[in-house]
Amino acid sequence: MNPSPEKFFYSGTRKEITEHAAALIIAEAYRAVADHGRFSLVLAGGNSPRPLYRHLAQGVSIELLQHYELKVPDCDLKSNGKILSLPENTWLFQGDERCVPSDHPDSNFRMVHETLLLQSGIPENHFFRMPTDKANTEKGAREYEATIRNFFLASASIDEQEFPLFDLIVLGLGDDGHTASLFAGNTEALQEKTKWVVAVSAPEAKPPGKRLTLTLPAINHARNVMFFTTGAPKAELAKKIFLEETGPLPAALVSPVNGKLFWFSDHQ
Ligand code: 6PG
Repeated sequence: MNPSPEKFFYSGTRKEITEHAAALIIAEAYRAVADHGRFSLVLAGGNSPRPLYRHLAQGVSIELLQHYELKVPDCDLKSNGKILSLPENTWLFQGDERCVPSDHPDSNFRMVHETLLLQSGIPENHFFRMPTDKANTEKGAREYEATIRNFFLASASIDEQEFPLFDLIVLGLGDDGHTASLFAGNTEALQEKTKWVVAVSAPEAKPPGKRLTLTLPAINHARNVMFFTTGAPKAELAKKIFLEETGPLPAALVSPVNGKLFWFSDHQ
């Protein structure tokens, strides 16, 4: 485990955590673009992030950024009424995906497309979809890793341990403490030290089946990692994980090497 990262826990109503998380992501996007010309954002699947992605697509007001004391470089925060959307140079990736067709109700791509892509104006070619239509899921994992590698090699944004430096990764939390498609029962995937993307079988997942997922090293080298989780049972688990009061659940193994860790959890 990495030494404890700089970490923050925010709880509130679903509306409050959604607004706050969206504002933080957009502020970080402008900081990343000002710093290195682009913003790389990894999106969680499942259902919890739906309101967050819809809010990102709408953009956030200057007042909201000011309310959460979030600075945005080169932006006149006094221009009240102004709405800030994700900057043009935003690039989207998936943290994990179920191996189903992209129009399947269980497809994370379909959920992201409906809630964010269609409304946000982000060009389709700025979204790198996990290739889950391959009969050989390992081939899909290797292909997606190559996609990420090409993206980061173009700007030498790979740290000395050869891992991608995503600007921000959004993760969800399962009732059993899984995150992305890293499940406690899959020690091989959890112990992966070099690959960035792996194919897993998740018979106990909801929905069960084959999946592609980022690995812990790929997640833990991000500049920022954000758990966004809703619902009472998870609120308690989220707090326990944050306080390091659980065993080595997959979500508890998320500990950014050099980045910051944010938890957003609504209380019931
Ligand atoms: C997936 C997710 C997964 C999800 C959690 C929580 O593809 O299933 O990435 O890790 O975030 O299972 O799912 P809900 O947000 O639907 O509760």
